[in-house]
Amino acid sequence: MIYALILGRVYTLSLAEIVAVLKRGNVPSKILEASEEAVIIETEQPLDFEKLQKELGGTIQIVKIIDVIKKREKDSINFALQNYFTPSKLKKDYFKDYSGKKQFGISVFLLDKKIQAFGEPRRLGMFIKKGLQNQGISLRAVFPEFNSLALSSVAITKNQILQKGASICAIASPIHVYVGKTLCVQDFEDYGRRDYQRPMRDEKQGMLPPKVAQIMVNLAELPKGKTILDPFCGAGTILQEAILLGYKALGSDISKTAIRGAEANLEWFRNRYKIAPGKYALELSSAEAVSEPFKGKKIDSIVSEGYLGPLYAELPKISEINANFEQISHMWAKALEEFKKILEKGSKIVFSMPAYKKNFREYILFPQIDFISNLGYTIEDLFPTAVRKIAPFIKETERHSIIYDRKDQIVAREIFVIKN
Ligand SMILES: C[S@@+](CC[C@H](N)C(=O)[O-])C[C@H]1O[C@@H](n2cnc3c(N)ncnc32)[C@H](O)[C@@H]1O
Repeated sequence: MIYALILGRVYTLSLAEIVAVLKRGNVPSKILEASEEAVIIETEQPLDFEKLQKELGGTIQIVKIIDVIKKREKDSINFALQNYFTPSKLKKDYFKDYSGKKQFGISVFLLDKKIQAFGEPRRLGMFIKKGLQNQGISLRAVFPEFNSLALSSVAITKNQILQKGASICAIASPIHVYVGKTLCVQDFEDYGRRDYQRPMRDEKQGMLPPKVAQIMVNLAELPKGKTILDPFCGAGTILQEAILLGYKALGSDISKTAIRGAEANLEWFRNRYKIAPGKYALELSSAEAVSEPFKGKKIDSIVSEGYLGPLYAELPKISEINANFEQISHMWAKALEEFKKILEKGSKIVFSMPAYKKNFREYILFPQIDFISNLGYTIEDLFPTAVRKIAPFIKETERHSIIYDRKDQIVAREIFVIKN
């Protein structure tokens, strides 16, 4: 079976998450091709795609590949598919039985940036539409917006394309077109609910988006049912996502207000998502002394956003940045030393540190991270060699961390996975 996983905006993080989740779930699979947009995987068994989609914060769509069509490099995607989309093929493999007016969407994804595909989705869609109309089937086509080749999850959901017809996808490499249909898309409304409907939100602390919290939890590659600690739990986003993924969660924070907020949020979350009681505990504590309140508890992994320092509307002076780095590295050095008391050898810590955005592609990173190796931790390489070969576009720092940033933010997050 072949599937395409369509990657979110911070594609390196999305790919790292896919690698971790397939490994954790023991899904026998092989990555065939990958780009910044899509990962093509081959599996021995059919994927439980709905479950997988819910678990992957960085994947926005899962596509079932129905056929792989050969293509010459110079051929356009439409030319390669000119004999493929016959009405009988479409009726048999693509369209759902739906008695009302059918809807279909069309998206093109590229496995190589060099492929010229401007206008291809519209041409493909018109061809499909005409073919079916000639058979007396009335249907409406939904095309990507002018400057895009693919429909967003929002467009697919809002137009009810999966219920009323098909979201047809062509994923092109220079020599192949993988053709298939969308099985499911990311439930953006639910992620929004898990973020904005919580009773306590503190914008000043910088809220971690639930998707990113989910990715960070997944990067710990921990079997379900184990216990994750977030010693800088803030509003409890990481705890919430850990619980939803099937873990037990422990949280602590130095601030009483944060703990009260996390309590209120997790209570809301437990009711909203019908979570059984006893899945989490919260304590007031500094991270540097966190072994005390959780004495006797087995902690399998630590996942934490950590304190990022002040948030800024514009890039602060370098002296201010250096002072922040100094303070935060002291805090982390002490906290990492403390974590040694509660973590077994081989356990992982996923955490983020601030990275200051200089311009749209340059960052000022922590200059000194020796405190990690000085304490006997090693930074994990998140990509096996086989994946690196297929995915030369991976964007990581020299020290194997990955940056998550948002357009409007000066303080980005540098995400590390380290091993005790
Ligand atoms: C960036 S926020 C965490 C945000 C959280 N991940 C969320 O999405 O809600 C950082 C938190 O670290 C806490 N904090 C700062 N210094 C701390 C320390 N030394 N020990 C424990 N918590 C600390 C702050 O009170 C704050 O709640």
